[in-house]
Amino acid sequence: MPAHRVQFSPSGRSTLITEGASLLRAAELASEPMRAECGGRGACGRCLVRILDGQVPEYRVLRREAGSAEVLACLTRVHGPLTVQPLVEAQLPKLVSGDRYIGVQPLAAWAPWPLALAPLVECHGAEDLGVALDIGTTTLRLLLIRLSDGTIVGEAWAYNPQISKGADVISRIVAAEKGCLGELAAAIREAVVAMALEAAGGLDPGCIRGYVVAGNVTMIHLLLGEDPSGIRRVPSEPRALAFSPVDAQGLGWPGRADAPVYTVPGAGGWVGGDILAGAVRAGFSRAAETALYVDLGTNGEIVFGNADFALACACSAGPAFEGGGIRCGMRADRGAVDGAAIDAENGAMELSVIGGGSVRGLCGSGLIALADALFRAGWIDRCGRLTARVPVERRVEGKWGVAIALSTDQRVALWERDTASLIRAKAAVFAGIRSLVESLGAGGPGIERAYVSGNFGRYLNLPAAVGIGLLPDIPLGRYGYIDNGSLEGAALSLLSSQFFAEIAAYVTRVTYVDLSDLPGYMDEFVGASFLPHTSPDLLRMG
Ligand code: FES
Repeated sequence: MPAHRVQFSPSGRSTLITEGASLLRAAELASEPMRAECGGRGACGRCLVRILDGQVPEYRVLRREAGSAEVLACLTRVHGPLTVQPLVEAQLPKLVSGDRYIGVQPLAAWAPWPLALAPLVECHGAEDLGVALDIGTTTLRLLLIRLSDGTIVGEAWAYNPQISKGADVISRIVAAEKGCLGELAAAIREAVVAMALEAAGGLDPGCIRGYVVAGNVTMIHLLLGEDPSGIRRVPSEPRALAFSPVDAQGLGWPGRADAPVYTVPGAGGWVGGDILAGAVRAGFSRAAETALYVDLGTNGEIVFGNADFALACACSAGPAFEGGGIRCGMRADRGAVDGAAIDAENGAMELSVIGGGSVRGLCGSGLIALADALFRAGWIDRCGRLTARVPVERRVEGKWGVAIALSTDQRVALWERDTASLIRAKAAVFAGIRSLVESLGAGGPGIERAYVSGNFGRYLNLPAAVGIGLLPDIPLGRYGYIDNGSLEGAALSLLSSQFFAEIAAYVTRVTYVDLSDLPGYMDEFVGASFLPHTSPDLLRMG
């Protein structure tokens, strides 16, 4: 079968691909990051590309101009050499690894109780290194840590390359069921190699003595090449919740010949080692007070409990909190709106932007803050629809419906369908929280402490999160923020075998609650599908 070269512009990445394969497949092979929320079914409209050079297809062309055409990459077959440019809808925001954690000593900065340096993996000398890794459905984060003194010496972030098979875990499981398990495993393993080398910089990656990986149960299955299909059965039946360590070399990862890879155990098909690492990092396993831990990722994961017991559940929040699924969404990075205020008198809207400068997009925390400000000012109604109070100069209409302009050129805007996504996401999380807390009955404990984790950096606006009905209306002083509980828990596990053992022991006290088994969950969800809630009284759970 003939093969054709597909080149991506402006990145210059290219690949050879067999006749008849899709452009989305070419992007995967070329390692060109591309949004594909629906996993290539032609349903999400994200994978838009412009054909700059080569034969323009006859069919399924969304827009045709002289010499170029806009098409969906997943529905377009390659029949000759092509040069294509991913359009803004298809682009993933750039991830910059930065040096946020360099120099941090996890045992001093993150340990919930005093922990001695006693690495889970062998350490024989000052040059020995270990890796802590968080495998998220959307992003991967890696820390390289000097084992002799527990200092972070390197870090790397990357998108999960499996994203081209869909934005959520179900899409990935379906892809694995269709025969892509090996490909999914290889993609994640190769991405980790690149990250480990990037984090090592001038250090010798051959000095890596071992890895600790936290992730949801699906991600761990895919990493290890285990069939994940049982996870989505009812009841959920993962192959295992705790796996024995495997050899790093077997995964193709750099390090000593005998370097092991530990994975943090999970508590149920939908409650993985990522959330448990975060809960123990928050101190749950030794806490007398009953606390709430909420991880706001693509999967909203929630734990409610203390040292004696914990209930855990997961709800499908979608990618809105990570800036995904939002027309002008981006990561909490330079140029992202992260706060908003509206003057009720004169209707002036003021936006704060990370790093100052012009508005480039809207991150998850900005979306929450903006929705809260708009609702308070009466610019959007309880369903998130624009009202007549939106000043005409801010109102935008286009193929996506109506929106409120956020940038002077109106290219960055909040669309009504974005607020609808946010309301669905926040309703799923809030209904999950209420269902867990209420399942203990009227005399059960209240929320004495609450921890929120997620990819918000330092930017989550807690009053706004409470204001839109995402989080319970308890005194704000009870809230704490954990940047990335999964990654921090993995780092603590790497440096303290006691901490790793504590997670494994705490798993036995965790009861997984399948929200679909709770008769009241859908009622809670419907009640929470408004701003801030159908019955604002129900927001108070303290
Ligand atoms: S339309 Fe969703 S991936 Fe192409």
